[in-house]
Amino acid sequence: MKKDLLGIHALTAQDIEHVLETASGFKGVLERDIKKVPTLRGKTMVNLFFEPSTRTRMSFELAGKRLSMDVANVSIAASSVVKGESLLDTIRTMEAYGADIVVIRHSSSGVPHILSGGVDASIVNAGDGFNEHPTQALLDLFTIRQHKGRLEGLTVAIVGDIAHSRVAKSNIYAMGKLGMKIRLIGPPTLIPSGMKLLPGVEIFHRMEEGLRGADVIMQLRIQTERQDGGYFPSIHEYADLYILNNRRLAMAKPDAIVMHPGPLNRGVEISSDVADGESSVILDQVQNGVAVRMAVLYLLAGGWASSGTQAAQERFPS
Ligand code: CP
Repeated sequence: MKKDLLGIHALTAQDIEHVLETASGFKGVLERDIKKVPTLRGKTMVNLFFEPSTRTRMSFELAGKRLSMDVANVSIAASSVVKGESLLDTIRTMEAYGADIVVIRHSSSGVPHILSGGVDASIVNAGDGFNEHPTQALLDLFTIRQHKGRLEGLTVAIVGDIAHSRVAKSNIYAMGKLGMKIRLIGPPTLIPSGMKLLPGVEIFHRMEEGLRGADVIMQLRIQTERQDGGYFPSIHEYADLYILNNRRLAMAKPDAIVMHPGPLNRGVEISSDVADGESSVILDQVQNGVAVRMAVLYLLAGGWASSGTQAAQERFPS
């Protein structure tokens, strides 16, 4: 990650550790009474979301503002994209206004990668089709380490629509690089067969087997917006087999944590008593999104050479 953050695929384990360490420093900033530092004053970030978002868009906006950036949110429906302007011309227009970092979410896989070669601004992938969602994986890792104190050697069960989930892909790439054990659980139609070749990955189709002894359970939403056919007979039958309820949670380790990237479909992939129960760290994921995205913006804006927590502490004294 030097100019852009397009995916976890391109990062080394050391790169990932560096982002997490930098995020720890920013988490300290967010715990202060005044949660704002002047670090990126004078820099401009544009949020360009072609798909709906609550968490990612808001946390990038907050992250930029906490770093004193100028932040512009472009409403696609009210922009000249609807008049036929190309994506590249749109981003070049933003660059002409001084955008240093463009955060983009798009329904087509690969769009951030195509744009990155055409502009000098840093491009951050906030989710491209069913390819990757790198900042989600980084905040997930940050949250796991917050609760477990380590990452290497942990067993993580990722349950549901692996095939259409960019969150799953980014997490699988990251966890494999960090020496974590990954169990993918779901119907055969929703787990691409090539996944079993990736480092650290085991495949399970029965939830009861896959959850046994897991340290972390990550439930996924069924991505109906990206599905083009019948991958299971009905949502009711899917829920019967793959919902995380208290009975199934008891099969994991007693101190297992429950994660979900959101938005939740309660009663489909997760029951309300689990989502709101004491094993759930879902709202910690949401909160950590701001610190992790501050770290990504800081590193892309030129802080990559400094060392994580040390840099944050030295540069942002309380
Ligand atoms: N996890 C996630 O990407 O959520 P949003 O779609 O609300 O941004």
